[in-house]
Amino acid sequence: MSDKPEAAPNPPVRLAEYRPADYLIDAVRLDISLDRVATRVVSRLELRPNPAGIAGAPLILDGGDLRPFRALLDNQALDLAEVATPDRMIIAHPPARPFTLEVETLLDPSANTRLEGLYRSGSTYCTQCEAEGFRRITYYLDRPDAMSVFTVRIEADKEEAPVLLSNGNPMEKGDLPGGRHYAVWHDPFPKPCYLFALVGGDLGSIEDEFETVSGRKIKLGIYVEKGKEHRAHYAMESLIHAMRWDEFVYGREYDLDVFNIVAVPDFNMGAMENKGLNIFNDKYILAIQETATDGDYVGIETVVAHEYFHNWTGNRITCRDWFQLCLKEGLTVYRDQEFSADQRSRAVGRIANVRTLRASQFPEDAGPLAHNVRPDAYNEINNFYTATVYEKGAEIIRMLRALIGHDAYHNGMALYFERFDGKAATVEDFISCFAESSGRDLSQFFLWYNQAGTPRLKARGAYDAAARTYTLDLSQETPPTPGQPDKKPLLMPIRLGLIGQDGQEIPLVQDNPTSPREAEFGIFELAGTERRIVFKDVPSKPVPSLLRRFSTPAILDVELSEDDLLLLMAHDTDPFNRWQAAQTFATRLMIRSTTLIHAGELPDFNPAFAEALGALIEAGAADPAFAAQMAMLPSESDIARDIGSDVDPDAIFMARRSLRTEISKSLGARLLAVYERLTSDAPFSPDAASAGRRSLRNACLDLYAAGAPADGSDIAMRQFQLGANMTDTMAALSTLCAHATPQRERALDSFFRSHAEEPLIVDKWFSLQAMIPELETLARVKRLTHNHAFSLTNPNRVRALISAFANGNPTGFNAADGAGYRFIAETALKLDEINPQVAARLLSAFRSWRNLESGRRQLARDALESVAGHEKLSPDVRDIVARALA
Ligand code: TRP
Ligand code: ZN
Repeated sequence: MSDKPEAAPNPPVRLAEYRPADYLIDAVRLDISLDRVATRVVSRLELRPNPAGIAGAPLILDGGDLRPFRALLDNQALDLAEVATPDRMIIAHPPARPFTLEVETLLDPSANTRLEGLYRSGSTYCTQCEAEGFRRITYYLDRPDAMSVFTVRIEADKEEAPVLLSNGNPMEKGDLPGGRHYAVWHDPFPKPCYLFALVGGDLGSIEDEFETVSGRKIKLGIYVEKGKEHRAHYAMESLIHAMRWDEFVYGREYDLDVFNIVAVPDFNMGAMENKGLNIFNDKYILAIQETATDGDYVGIETVVAHEYFHNWTGNRITCRDWFQLCLKEGLTVYRDQEFSADQRSRAVGRIANVRTLRASQFPEDAGPLAHNVRPDAYNEINNFYTATVYEKGAEIIRMLRALIGHDAYHNGMALYFERFDGKAATVEDFISCFAESSGRDLSQFFLWYNQAGTPRLKARGAYDAAARTYTLDLSQETPPTPGQPDKKPLLMPIRLGLIGQDGQEIPLVQDNPTSPREAEFGIFELAGTERRIVFKDVPSKPVPSLLRRFSTPAILDVELSEDDLLLLMAHDTDPFNRWQAAQTFATRLMIRSTTLIHAGELPDFNPAFAEALGALIEAGAADPAFAAQMAMLPSESDIARDIGSDVDPDAIFMARRSLRTEISKSLGARLLAVYERLTSDAPFSPDAASAGRRSLRNACLDLYAAGAPADGSDIAMRQFQLGANMTDTMAALSTLCAHATPQRERALDSFFRSHAEEPLIVDKWFSLQAMIPELETLARVKRLTHNHAFSLTNPNRVRALISAFANGNPTGFNAADGAGYRFIAETALKLDEINPQVAARLLSAFRSWRNLESGRRQLARDALESVAGHEKLSPDVRDIVARALA
């Protein structure tokens, strides 16, 4: 590298350097007087030396770009020039006894485009404090182990902000002179400041009541933009289901008198679990059939549950430091995945989770941004809210559950809640509960937290007809990742079965089973580099079905013939592996075709595969949602990941298009027949069964159109014009977008005209266009950035248009002339001045740049270096580009 990017200005934060704070904050009183440009914050902290800290140490409080107005220690004025800078307050010699510190700061929420701290979304005042946003409101010990009891008084103009909310229970409210009013909230549960929240605005709401298992009545409220109250009912139902589920499955009861959710249109992520006052991206609250797709409904159910579940896994028990982020996130994702699996189809849910894991986490683990599920150093914590922490973090909990079983898992959870309630815990604390409940030594298992990279699991089987034995040799290897050249073997739960040539499951008989869970559940453990398992009484050569339910997040290397895969597709008792067999078959065909196309030859095809797929789709009436998953071939990014190096995105695109065209041509009218059969004029319902039928029907149409673009587009146009619900409208529009027909532009125009006033619907329109796999798309995306509905200041707009292009349009982003890379780099630089978190996340689209063929690799590197060379970068962007280029 010629010009090295500058080193990060601050040294990295290291887990090994953790030490307790020198002071404790027993109580916080905040008085916040809301104003569009001059909000006053008075914070009164009750402090005392921490017996676990260093006696006589200075008190160092974090600040973020603050304007301090006055500060008093035990009511004695401090010299601001001496103690405060925008980013810090230092009291050199605090009293060695309890004392109070009162500080007043002045904020301009209207100027806050970072959407961290106190900001305005539309005309609503709201806050976002995780991870380090509270320091942008007032000086504080902004670290999750500093837990305190908060009392908050909010004052505002009564007309501008009739609704005033904060954490905990409402205590008092009243009118004030000059058209102002106030409300006081008190949260009795000690919490870190990242869980603080405040909302003020003129919002509409819906209310409900939940009676807990012990008979307490909780008031539930969801606050949304006025006029959209009717769109919040599905979220409310989801919340009530989640509350019931957590009582039933984890024995967790809600603890305050009220639980409020507020939906805002400007939000950096999905949602935030502030104690008693969750704040949501409105995309994960608002849904009626005219505006939301089935996918949106699934998202709402999942995210509402996720944030609610944090009340116990995250809030009642929080993280000691940000290195422990997966303690709350991985566990809570696992809990929301299990909740959703119980509400809908378990198999389809698992397939969706694994699709996400492979699409978002595997590339991270295979590239320059790879990191441990529990990192041991960071420059910018905001860049560690990653698929590795969330999704791989959830896989670790799932493996733990598979290894120790239902009872030990739930006993361990009960122990965790009992022992660490009200505390800030570590991953070690958590795992120790399961070591105790299961009586097992989990030290090797712990490596999953401390070792990055996706392990490769190799399986080779041999059948001995004379001895009637089947010998399975398993081995594992994890490739090096940045900073971790040598890897140790991981403890893997491998759920497996054997399928006979007749399609029947063969009982697993062994001489010396290692654990009772092998015979009972088919869960085998691989602890070392290798293991040989010999199965007896195997009547004929079996086909192994490995990693059932994807029991370990590994890349599986197993020799299966095309006939083996067809057998598994048709007969495996594990639905996940039936789906996996189809994916593996399709991937093989497409990888072969990619090579052929690259060499100027014709792509490969196998009619037997199309026939098997057709049979599954036709038999899909029993479980249409599952059949729809079968009909969806691996994405271009999936294939790129499996190819791994020297990737040519254009060849992959052609290989995939060719396979879909050939399947479509060989199934033809049979796909249309299923489409017709699933047509229904029943009233819309978002339930899983109805959504499953819609998804199979739309998958059939899309596949049909691949081989019959004119006819398929006509049918899609009719479905679009019918406009029965947003799911079918969007599916039709998406099929139209895949083919350059005149109908496409007409449909896109009409869609925009109908929905121009609905930002969340316009987002769908932005995304579909950004993902059109044509050379002209970049020009289209650039044109759309000038559409009055687009704005760089709203993260949903940026994700819908810009991120959809960067992550959902592989041929566009990876255009051979580098124009896609330059566009994303330039946009990220503009965005960095507005919202560094969103800018940094956009740049993670470059995470696999080293796997590209050499021409594109150089162009991608040039684009990253052009960002790195910029003199004014946020710590967020600087950290991402430095690691991507390292
Ligand atoms: N803790 C939130 C969740 O996963 C996500 C979150 C972290 C977040 N940082 C954020 C949300 C910043 C918004 C902005 O549930
Ligand atoms: Zn979370």
